[in-house]
Amino acid sequence: MKLSHFSAALSLLASTALAIDINVDDPASIKNAAGIAAKKLRALYPTDEPWFIPGEFGLIQTEDGKNNKGYYWWEAGAAMGGWIDYWAYTGDDTYNDRVMEAMLFQVGEKQDYQPRNQSLALGNDDQGFWGIAAITAAERGFPDPPEDKPQWLALGQAVFNRQAGRWDAAACNGGLRWQVFQSNKGYDYKNTISNGLFFNMGARLGRYTDNATYIEWAEKTWKWSREMNLVDKDYAIYDGSHIPECTVSSSIRWSYNAGVYLAGAAAVYDYYKAQKNEAKMAEWEEHTMGLLKATDTIFFNQNSEYPANVMQESACENPPNNQEPTCNTDQRSFKAYLSRFMGQTYQLCDFTRDFIMERLKTSAEWAAKSCNGPPDGNTCGLRWGFGKYDGSPYGIAKGGVGEHMAAMEVFHNLLAPGAKAPLTDKTGGTSKGDAAAGSGGGLSEEDLRQTDPSSGGDRAGAGILTTLTLGGLLGLTFWLIKE
Ligand SMILES: *[C@@H]1O[C@H](CO)[C@@H](O)[C@H](O)[C@H]1NC(C)=O
Ligand SMILES: *[C@@H]1O[C@H](CO)[C@@H](O)[C@H](O)[C@H]1NC(C)=O
Repeated sequence: MKLSHFSAALSLLASTALAIDINVDDPASIKNAAGIAAKKLRALYPTDEPWFIPGEFGLIQTEDGKNNKGYYWWEAGAAMGGWIDYWAYTGDDTYNDRVMEAMLFQVGEKQDYQPRNQSLALGNDDQGFWGIAAITAAERGFPDPPEDKPQWLALGQAVFNRQAGRWDAAACNGGLRWQVFQSNKGYDYKNTISNGLFFNMGARLGRYTDNATYIEWAEKTWKWSREMNLVDKDYAIYDGSHIPECTVSSSIRWSYNAGVYLAGAAAVYDYYKAQKNEAKMAEWEEHTMGLLKATDTIFFNQNSEYPANVMQESACENPPNNQEPTCNTDQRSFKAYLSRFMGQTYQLCDFTRDFIMERLKTSAEWAAKSCNGPPDGNTCGLRWGFGKYDGSPYGIAKGGVGEHMAAMEVFHNLLAPGAKAPLTDKTGGTSKGDAAAGSGGGLSEEDLRQTDPSSGGDRAGAGILTTLTLGGLLGLTFWLIKE
């Protein structure tokens, strides 16, 4: 072989070996692709760093080192939920011990995913992402924690009960506020993701336990979300409403909101299906299909510059003219949740299957094409419609958690057809529950006083710390204390 041929063959070999190769109709190939993305995500989980805390991805440095930001605490909860599904769909238990460690480390002093360290910036949505991870663990039959530790179902119930206790009828006629504590910026915002997660948890706990109280809460939250127009008559979902106006004040549409309501509706449908309640089944089939179809233009087929059926975070990816995307660290992970919730919906609602699989397959093919970035040729980009790596930041101090979680989840959710549907306690779920978990006293002033300000997260915490003295902080009334 001539040298030039040899090197051409070598580089061909290199390029095929490096990008993620996926055949979306072959489970082994799908597992392989999901495995590569899962490993890339794991490489960003800083277990080898001296500052490692289980359940925290840690710092992202800026170029000048002056405006370093962390991943928010919730995103690790989201990743744990992603790895639980990864294990359930692929059978690869490589990450299970790390998931167990983080999920138990972060339960908080009251075993409700409200750890003291997060109290300066704790949103219902942050807590909710850990809550849905715990519920996923119960539904997927993830290994139970040791007996002397809190159990998955009980943890999900604890989060749900805390949030039910914060249902706020005094403003906007109901719903949850974004922030848990009055002193945090965002306490005057009723954001959709907080309410969507609460809806999703209620629906799934109701389905899992067959306890109608959870479904009543889910239906009440749904009704409120519609009345508030956070979910509009055409099932478009907006970001949130400020108090006291209570009209949609941010109409941005994010894919995670679409996903969280979709899978919640699917779970309510399945709950009524188990009861053979045909009127309710028809009602929730309509909602589920309405929510699903409303994802199409905005998250799959809006930009003719993108190939058809490729998932996109259209509020920030900016595909049309190749401008830099404006997605922040959080938003880079949102496609993971739309993928995840489409997979769950696929499992629960047979009438959604063609629509979902057509989009997940094409999205996964294009996500795989985005995974040919340096340094190892397997780094995944943000914008799948690009057809190649788009230069997204990657590295332990640079970013990439969202991109790799999203790639992993769009891959492994292709395995939904061959996987067991989420369990309930009638279909093999064994996790121990505690209907009263999280209904006692929550964080107190005393807890807050002991909070290390530097560990409170920067979203709201940094803002209030610069404007309030610690004494001022302690003088404020906290919602939870009223419990
Ligand atoms: C809380 O923050 C402290 C200080 O950073 C850290 O040592 C501890 O491990 C954290 N605990 C949790 C549960 O995150
Ligand atoms: C059903 O859930 C509600 C709300 O958490 C709880 O108060 C009640 O005890 C539960 N019922 C049963 C039978 O577990």
